[in-house]
Amino acid sequence: MTEPNFKNRTLYHGDNLKFLRGMNSETVDLIATDPPFNKNRDFHATPDSLAAGAKFQDRWSWERDVHQDWVDQITDDYPRLMEAIESARFAHSDGMGAFMCFMAVRLLEMWRVLKPTGSLYLHCDPTASHYLKAVMDAIFGWKNFSNEITWQRSNSHNTAKRYGNVSDTILYYTRSGNYVWNRQYQPYSEAQLSRFRHKDQNGKRYKLENLTASRANSSSGKFEWRGTMPPPSRGWGYTLEQLEEWWREGRIQTKRDGTPRMDGLKMYLDDAPGKLAMNIWTDIPRIANTSSERTGYPTQKPLALYERMIRASSNEGDMVLDPFCGCATTPVAAERLGRQWVGIDIWDKAHEVVVDRLKNEVGLFGEVHYKTEPPTRTDDAQPAAPFLRVKQVHEPPGPKMSRAAMYEHLLEQHGPRCQGCYRDFDDPRYLQLDHNVPRSDGGLNHISNRVLLCGPCNRLKSNIYTLSGLRRQNKKLGYMSKDLL
Ligand SMILES: C[S@@+](CC[C@H](N)C(=O)[O-])C[C@H]1O[C@@H](n2cnc3c(N)ncnc32)[C@H](O)[C@@H]1O
Repeated sequence: MTEPNFKNRTLYHGDNLKFLRGMNSETVDLIATDPPFNKNRDFHATPDSLAAGAKFQDRWSWERDVHQDWVDQITDDYPRLMEAIESARFAHSDGMGAFMCFMAVRLLEMWRVLKPTGSLYLHCDPTASHYLKAVMDAIFGWKNFSNEITWQRSNSHNTAKRYGNVSDTILYYTRSGNYVWNRQYQPYSEAQLSRFRHKDQNGKRYKLENLTASRANSSSGKFEWRGTMPPPSRGWGYTLEQLEEWWREGRIQTKRDGTPRMDGLKMYLDDAPGKLAMNIWTDIPRIANTSSERTGYPTQKPLALYERMIRASSNEGDMVLDPFCGCATTPVAAERLGRQWVGIDIWDKAHEVVVDRLKNEVGLFGEVHYKTEPPTRTDDAQPAAPFLRVKQVHEPPGPKMSRAAMYEHLLEQHGPRCQGCYRDFDDPRYLQLDHNVPRSDGGLNHISNRVLLCGPCNRLKSNIYTLSGLRRQNKKLGYMSKDLL
């Protein structure tokens, strides 16, 4: 783990990729973030609100939004991740592929800046949640997927000819198996509340709970207590000390003969923490129009939602990051819970709104560090998620090869054969050096997935995007004979 090269209460303004890339590795305990959802629309803040003038575009295109160097980085270093992006592109649309690529380069950095004990909550909705899950699995590893949380954000939605969409999805991943976890509780339902139907002499409501637990295959809890043995298949569910303590407090109901009733533990409503939180959250309503929390920011989320994630997956003093912080819901929630925070947003007015919210909602004055330049890394500058990197698939040992040397090497390996349509050429000059997926770079690095393609296949591939896509297309068009497939 390294020292953070940024301060608590920092708000970065600009594209989060450059700030994430500038942050030292393993310096953040929790990321709770709410990026665009790929809704194919523009969002505008309510006029006259605190966030008036704020807007952001949630449409994605390969040409406009994806940088070649992202494609290069993912293609060369994380081919499994590229497969996940590709499948979104094939199954859905170019726009979905572009959005996944945009997210993937950022998620790689988020993985890097998280501490080994850290967690990430990614807020999305069913538009892209399943594609994001595949991307996240490729980066975090499917074993580190903890939950898909469904947040019911409204009660009704009138949608023609289908069920109303009333929920968002939050994908919760940890960076390893050893992570921070604090149990969370939700309010009881009406049915659960009705079980607290007894009242003691002071009028306090309670319910009766069983003192024993199933112990068919274990000897634990099988002792006599105050003249009572638990049934053969069960044992006392608590230690002798705990039982004695409750007995002294008068919390155990007794039978006529004065021995304890097995179902006689009084659980008081006032002491009960609520029911354990599950992965469906229906108890946090969206921000009402009249709520004092409302800033007018178009996609603002309730503080209670982010407070639950922060409480569950961080401790006081921990560092919380939101690289898509909008009107600062995560920073405000973190501040209220005594955590440190860093927020990033590309929106110009974010700073003013954050300062205002922290002043009004947390009573914090003039302590936000506003920055437009990324921090300079002071750690060993490891690239994103090094364990995921795949190198030298075809690359022979020895120093890196130039394009010309690579060309010769591939020619020796496969002969003068196009790897897109498998036609053999008399003159190898018909063949061009390219990647399995397109990239423009002519440099010496990243040669691991290069192939030789004929001119038509190379041109066709820029439209089809991958070599496997190109081969499928060629097969469909009958350009490849069966024995080559
Ligand atoms: C869904 S909103 C977040 C709303 C936030 N949870 C809140 O409660 O206000 C997504 C945010 O991502 C920001 N954003 C989009 N692309 C970005 C980028 N490349 N870098 C930083 N922020 C970006 C938008 O400006 C927008 O504020």
